[in-house]
Amino acid sequence: MSTTYGTFPGSRPRRLRTTPAMRRMVAEYRLHPSDLILPAFVREGVSEPVPISAMPGVVQHTRDTLRKAAVEALEAGVAGIMLFGVPEEAKKDALGTPGTDPDGILQVAIRDVKAEVGDELVIMSDLCLDESTDHGHCGVLDAEGRVDNDATLERYAEMAQVQADAGVHVVGPSGMMDGQVGVVRDALDQTGHEDVSILAYTAKYASAFYGPFREAVGSSLQGDRKTYQQDPANLRESMRELALDLAEGADMVMVKPALPYLDVLAKVAESVDVPVAAYQISGEYAMVEAAAANGWIDRDRAIMETLTGIKRAGANMILTYWATEVARQL
Ligand code: PBG
Repeated sequence: MSTTYGTFPGSRPRRLRTTPAMRRMVAEYRLHPSDLILPAFVREGVSEPVPISAMPGVVQHTRDTLRKAAVEALEAGVAGIMLFGVPEEAKKDALGTPGTDPDGILQVAIRDVKAEVGDELVIMSDLCLDESTDHGHCGVLDAEGRVDNDATLERYAEMAQVQADAGVHVVGPSGMMDGQVGVVRDALDQTGHEDVSILAYTAKYASAFYGPFREAVGSSLQGDRKTYQQDPANLRESMRELALDLAEGADMVMVKPALPYLDVLAKVAESVDVPVAAYQISGEYAMVEAAAANGWIDRDRAIMETLTGIKRAGANMILTYWATEVARQL
């Protein structure tokens, strides 16, 4: 086929971009409300929602406003909600006791949301200790102050049981401890929770973009997470984490953050036969909101563009703080 006639191109891709209807027809990827999962924070002991300054539009919910947010998400067609509990400061300790207390805020929130929406919305919970420890790490520390992998696994097993007892559909182990998926699967199976699924945080990078999340869960992390979360310089390592998580029983896998790791997401998505999620995290949200607030970018277009990019890279499910808003628009 000839590609040009003199100065005239023989092939004109622009023909398929001429009208909105034409562009809609030939779109290769489209977002659907059921692609979206809403991450939500619930704080113990507050009577009003508390705004998160680095995440304009996102709050630490009260028990009541969380129930409302769950209903709104459901009505908008969102697929699921990922819950994070923020315990009272005085209850946090070195072991992260609120995380395994059946009456800890996360367990209470799971029961609240379950009572409100039942099985209509997929209820997911963060399975990690950082929201509950006074030092802010995702696990318990050894005598030298290092995060003790195997001692942490015992805590995760207990967390899995109390979250499942509270009625959660999916647990999301996010601490990046070796062996966490296998231990959580065993704990669920041994306590009669064979039907509770595991969304494994498979490729989770030590990212600067978690910054606003620290405020969201009231965490004052001492040090950093570089001995357990992955180095941003690594891609092959994610394939190793993926193989381990699948062998240990992950039902779904996740890449996090999303935008700076679309190559990782694309590679994971083409390598597996389980559903793949991506988490558009707090700092990704904050970047767009801050630039938009300054009038530097078109907020709504930027949001859709990021989400479409994440879907194009291979995500079946996207966790995003804009879930309800975007689902309403779609
Ligand atoms: C760990 C966890 C974190 C996030 C989700 N689960 C924080 C971290 O690993 O440092 C971050 C989510 C976000 O930034 O939006 N419990």
